[in-house]
Parts: sequence; structure tokens; C-alpha cells
Amino acid sequence: MAFERVGVVGLGTMGAGIAEVFARAGLRVIGVEADAEALARGRGHLERSTGKAVDKGKLAPGQRDEILGRITLTTSREDLRDVDLVVEAIPEILDYKISLFKDLDRICEPGTVMATNTSSLSVTAIAAATGRPGRVVGMHFFNPAPVMKLVEVVGTVVTEPGVVADVTALAGRLGKTAVAVGDRAGFVVNRLLLPYLNHAAALMELGVAGRDDIDAAMRLGVGLPMGPFALLDLIGLDTAYEVMGVLFDETRDRRHAPSPLLRELVTAGLLGRKSGRGFYGESSESGESGAYGGAPHREQVKPRLGTFKVVGYEDEGDGLAERLRAAGFKASEDPDVVLCLADRPVIEHAVRLPDPARMVGVHLVGEQVAELASTALTSEHAATAARDLMKIVGLTPVPCKDRAGFVVDALLFPYLNDAVRMYDAGYASIEDIDAAMRLGCGYPAGPFEMLESFGLARVRDGLRALYTEYREPAFAPAPLLDQLVTADLSEFPRR
Ligand SMILES: NC(=O)c1ccc[n+]([C@@H]2O[C@H](COP(=O)([O-])OP(=O)(O)OC[C@H]3O[C@@H](n4cnc5c(N)ncnc54)[C@H](O)[C@@H]3O)[C@@H](O)[C@H]2O)c1
Repeated sequence: MAFERVGVVGLGTMGAGIAEVFARAGLRVIGVEADAEALARGRGHLERSTGKAVDKGKLAPGQRDEILGRITLTTSREDLRDVDLVVEAIPEILDYKISLFKDLDRICEPGTVMATNTSSLSVTAIAAATGRPGRVVGMHFFNPAPVMKLVEVVGTVVTEPGVVADVTALAGRLGKTAVAVGDRAGFVVNRLLLPYLNHAAALMELGVAGRDDIDAAMRLGVGLPMGPFALLDLIGLDTAYEVMGVLFDETRDRRHAPSPLLRELVTAGLLGRKSGRGFYGESSESGESGAYGGAPHREQVKPRLGTFKVVGYEDEGDGLAERLRAAGFKASEDPDVVLCLADRPVIEHAVRLPDPARMVGVHLVGEQVAELASTALTSEHAATAARDLMKIVGLTPVPCKDRAGFVVDALLFPYLNDAVRMYDAGYASIEDIDAAMRLGCGYPAGPFEMLESFGLARVRDGLRALYTEYREPAFAPAPLLDQLVTADLSEFPRR
């Protein structure tokens, strides 16, 4: 089926971008909003987004006019009577969507395909509310829709043969890569992404590390395009909260229960970028006016010659000691700070020292980040000295508590474990899961690519440590991962 005229209902964070994507591919678009004020906001999104593309030289002014000229904006759903496809992008609340689809079913021709951009709700339940369940699918775009290359196409048990293939072909025409999946809360990407974001909020609530430090660790250490709190602001905290609630309802996994922190911010109207404030203020990752901002150690570095000692892993430890010596610091038997690059918990190493207050745990993440774990006994003097030393040798310090996995492994390893479980359950292939996370989230590598580059045994052992510390059942290594390590394999068998 060829789609030439499409409707987009809801022109908020996602819908405006989706309308732009269709218009860029030459389709005619009717954009529908709830009222005149929201319609003006939607028009503003479209004008700003295409305006930015012109400013960056990615679009000629004439092309922009053509794109905007293909989009008709209205507050009347009745205008959708002649479209071939309608994509819904209204808030993530099942009752709203069901009532909208019932009405669209009345308005649109029987052959029209109806798609929902839901992140987590049951496409089957939405389809069942219409008289054409076979022609209802999920068409899940990613934020920002004009940029992110992935579309998850969700078929249900009642989808007519051919509809998923037609929508997949349309995604290709839009310049996107489609991954076809079954109807399970969160599909591939949100099922893996949202628990990680929720976990970041939980670590902050537990005081393991602060907002800016967690974001810096994931961005600079792991190479993600943004940290979890900046991403929550981009997604919209209300949307993230709703999606997590739906995941929890399906899985009853308490990691999916939305963090109380999110509920508090949503109730306060701090929804992220769309409301101007969320975890951050107006400009992400720089503003101090958002909630929970301002790490206390952002002061200028005052180089202060101190002494240090490095203990632990030979190669990593020697490398760090060498960098410190090259920066003019002295190794000493009576050091200001003892930097411990050894298996955690750091406190077990600290209590063996004559002065445990001097020990700080160090975990180097990538080329740029040093996680610095203070134990219950670490002195402020040692913690500050460790931070200064890292800054002077060009590393970004991420202060945190001495907890299993510190920040990065604690956030990353359960996500990798979830991906293994998803694959082992037969929901999606390794290739699709990797592609979905790369193209849907802009990650530098998919979870299986990350697992294989970190080393399966390291991730399995890290998960065991997390499980031992937090006793969270989902942190126990997936049986498949455990078996591959036992069999001494370094890669996942591609089936
Ligand atoms: N935000 C994300 O990162 C993201 C990513 C992928 C998918 N999604 C999904 O996309 C959908 C929309 O999310 P969003 O973040 O764009 O929400 P949003 O709150 O930014 O936008 C929703 C828009 O729908 C409009 N609306 C509400 N009721 C309407 C109605 N009856 N008719 C027409 N318009 C109506 C609102 O005025 C608003 O402009 C949700 O299902 C969400 O899960 C969101």
C-alpha cells in the first residue's frame, strides 16, 4: 500500500517532529491538535526545527518553505477523513488513546492504517477498541524524530498480513531503519532504556552520586550522547513517568516502578525541556536552576602539590602513578591520599591501612573519567586531594559512594543483562537489539557490542557483585551470560 496523505494527531515533543519527517519525504500531512493554543505551539515546534536546519545549512530556505507547505494544521479531527495513514502522538495514557482511536475509526476510511507512537502501552488494546484491529499498528519514532534513525514497527496477533510490511517500507522511504517487533510493554528500546534512567534517579536518591556527576560519567566515560538526567529532560518527565508505570504494571519488576523523585518533579510541573525546567534549567547540563542541581566541587582547580600512593591493579595503577608523577606529584609512604584501583568494596582495602581515612577508590572509565569512591571513613581532605589530582592529570572526577559498581557499572551492567534476557526470551535478535539502541538512542554501540568489548566475564562478575550488594533479583547474571562465561566464549553465538 502506498501512503501519500498522512495525519498526525498531537503536535507536542514527538508529533511535530513526526509531521516534519513525513513532509520532508514529500508526503502531504494534516497535523491535528487539541485546541488553538496547542496548535500554535505545534506550529512553533515545526518552524523552530526547520529554521534550525536552515541556520545549520542542512536545508535551503526554499526547501523549508516546501516542507512547511506540505503540512496543513487544524484542530478538527474530521479533516482526517481522506488520509491513508494516521499516526497518533498524544500523551501516554491508555484511556485518551482508546477514545481517540474509536473516533478516528469513525472518521477515517476503512482502508486507512492507524498507527500509535506509544512508547509502552498495549497496541493490542488500542487496536481492539476499533472496528479495524487488523489495520492498527505501533509506529514508534524516537526523539528527536527528524534526527533519530530508528522506527519500531509493532504488529499484534491480529495485525493483517502485509500491514507491518507496508509500514516498514514507508519507514524506509522516510530514511529510517525499521525494526519489526511484537507487542510487549516498552518494545525493545524503552524496555532497556527506561529501567536504566529510573536506576539513575534511584542512585541519586540513595546519594551514591549527584546529578551532574552521573551525567558526566555516562557521557564522557561511556560515550553516550547525553547523561540520564539530561535525557529524562529531553524525553519529558511526565512521559517517562507514565512509560515506567506501564512497564511496572506489565512486569511487576520493582526496578520499573517510577522513582518517587520523578513523581515529585512531575507534580511540581517540572517536566523537562517542554516546560523549561526539569532536572536542569533552560540549558541542559549547564543550568543550576533545575531540580537537584549543582555538584559542590565545581570550583576552579587550584593546583596544590600533594603526595599520593597508588595501590591495586598493576597496569592501570602504574599508568595512573606515572601520569601523576609527570604532573609533578610525589609518590610517598606518608601520602595525602591513597588511590585504590582494586576490586571493590574499597572499605575492605581501607581498613587494612594504618589510616583508612586517606583511601579513595578509583575506577577509570574510558579515557576521560575517574570515578572516585569515598568510603564511610574517607576524610574530606583525601577526597578533595583525589579530585584535584584527577583534574590536574586531565581526568573528569566523578565522586561517588563506595557501592558496588560505583556509578557506571551499576547503571550499565543491569542494562546489558536486560538485553541478554530479552534476546534469550526470543523477543528480538542480537542484531535488532544492537541496531535499535544505536539508532534509537544514538549510543556508540549496542548492548551486545558493548558486552563483547568489555568482556563477558567482567560484566558477569560485576553483576554478581551488584547482586551481592543490592540483592536485586534482576541484577543476578542472566543464565545465558553465565553459561557463555563458563564455556569460555567471548562472543554471543548469532543464531
Ligand atoms: N517524548 C519522547 O521522547 C517520546 C519518544 C517516543 C515516543 N513518545 C510517545 O509519543 C506520545 C506523545 O508523547 P510526547 O512526549 O510528544 O507528549 P507531549 O506532551 O509533548 O505532546 C502531546 C501533544 O498531544 C496533544 N494532545 C493531547 N490530546 C490531544 C487530542 N485529543 N487531540 C490532539 N492532540 C492532543 C497535546 O496538546 C500535546 O501537544 C506518547 O505516547 C509518548 O509515549 C514519546
